[in-house]
Amino acid sequence: MATFEVRGLGKQFPTDPPVRALDGIDLTVEDGEFVVLLGPSGCGKSTLLEILAGLQQPTEGAVLLEGEPVRGTNDRLGVVFQDASLYPWRTVERNVELGLEFRGVGKAERRRVATEYLAQVGLSGFEKKYPHQLSGGMRQRAGIARTLAAEPDVLLMDEPFGAVDHLTRIQLQRDLLALWESRRRTVVFVTHDVGEAVYLADRVILLSPRPGRVAREFVIDEPRPRRRGDIALLAVESEIYAALTRIEERSATA
Ligand SMILES: Nc1ncnc2c1ncn2[C@@H]1O[C@H](COP(=O)(O)OP(=O)(O)OP(=O)(O)O)[C@@H](O)[C@H]1O
Ligand SMILES: [Mg+2]
Repeated sequence: MATFEVRGLGKQFPTDPPVRALDGIDLTVEDGEFVVLLGPSGCGKSTLLEILAGLQQPTEGAVLLEGEPVRGTNDRLGVVFQDASLYPWRTVERNVELGLEFRGVGKAERRRVATEYLAQVGLSGFEKKYPHQLSGGMRQRAGIARTLAAEPDVLLMDEPFGAVDHLTRIQLQRDLLALWESRRRTVVFVTHDVGEAVYLADRVILLSPRPGRVAREFVIDEPRPRRRGDIALLAVESEIYAALTRIEERSATA
């Protein structure tokens, strides 16, 4: 069964004047699939992800999670927000333990899992620090560790590596793929980095400028592990750039 089925989804914010963020989105995300949502700034990517996460209500249409309408948040979904929203009064490790704490996991086990995921995002040695003692990129990595530590079946990630330096970003992309391949979680990942999209995705969904609509879909069937700079990947990348330019020009003249 598909993880997500999105049918005729629209979202309008009741501001003055109203902002139409999303329009007529139809989208199926299969179980275990790695889908990337790509599109220009302000086209509604974060809004769409928050609707999938049950954090916002659509104005029109429906979202089904494994056949059931999404109603509010769900433990099986792990969300990484665009800005790592850590609790400032908790140390890094206690932030990462949060999801496990909610599930009633004991302290020793929580600490073990937190230590493991913090190591995975390159934050060993920073367990006892508070969020304000970290750089923006480190906070973002702590936020990723927190989501991964809860071991969700479905990962919803909103530009998770946006604030991270280039080398760490490449490492985190690799770690995420390894994790995805080992447990076959379903991933919906937002980015506006075309190179990142083709490196990670099974399928790239290109959204138009606001109101966001599905403009194009690109299936990336290059075998894994993929190599950055691979000629076939670069070809898809340039095809996506061309499509992005076209939809931006079209909206500028509309
Ligand atoms: N709570 C809100 N109230 C009113 N308008 C909103 C709200 N949230 C988002 N918007 C508007 O909806 C549109 C889509 O916003 P959204 O954050 O989903 O875009 P995005 O594609 O994630 O952009 P970016 O790439 O810059 O993160 C924007 O025009 C934004 O101003
Ligand atoms: Mg966004």
